[in-house]
Amino acid sequence: MSIRIAPSILSADFGRLEAEIAEASTADLIHVDVMDNHFVPNLTLGFPVVQRLAQVSATPFDLHLMIEDADKWAPLYAEIGVASCTFHWEAAKDAVQVARDIRSTGARAAVAIKPGTPAEAVFDLLTEVDMVLVMTVEPGFGGQSFMREMLPKLGALKRAAAEAGTELRLEVDGGISVETAHEAVLAGADTLVAGSSVFGLPDRAAAIAALRVAAR
Ligand code: DX5
Ligand code: ZN
Repeated sequence: MSIRIAPSILSADFGRLEAEIAEASTADLIHVDVMDNHFVPNLTLGFPVVQRLAQVSATPFDLHLMIEDADKWAPLYAEIGVASCTFHWEAAKDAVQVARDIRSTGARAAVAIKPGTPAEAVFDLLTEVDMVLVMTVEPGFGGQSFMREMLPKLGALKRAAAEAGTELRLEVDGGISVETAHEAVLAGADTLVAGSSVFGLPDRAAAIAALRVAAR
């Protein structure tokens, strides 16, 4: 499966988001972290801001919802017109229904698991989603250290998907850099979120290119 780089605008300058997104136009996706200060102890962008940003971005959005009540909100966010909408398994009452509601909007559905959640938690969802996001930090903040002990989850998910007869994209988020990208890909990841290792550097195109090389 082709490797995709998804810079996270959590590390971008919030005062110039449209320009920041344009500077990362060589990326495959733009990763947008929505936090509600309940599911995680941080607050970022809300619905009207994400909606407007999606309109001005030439690069499709990879939405990461770190919010409670995914059942209600995920389908509404998916309808904005995003490539994929990721909800947290821990925040959904009926995860199968959330995935179906997202897919019915035309967006790809993805489910995320926090470090404390085992891969097995989402095994019964694998035919309902297009991607699983394995968090490699505790969600909430950029710039944290990569938790490589999460990587075995990727292999477990890949095997379970093969057993279920379905193809799945696997995303990692947190601490991805030129130092860690390769081991994540070796473990099975194909979609790499990178916040500080793209928007923390002055030349975003060079940072994205470096990640592509490192991921090989
Ligand atoms: C953290 C967010 C990440 C964050 C990653 O909860 O989900 O997307 O931006 O930041 P880095 O790449 O700096 O670890
Ligand atoms: Zn994220």
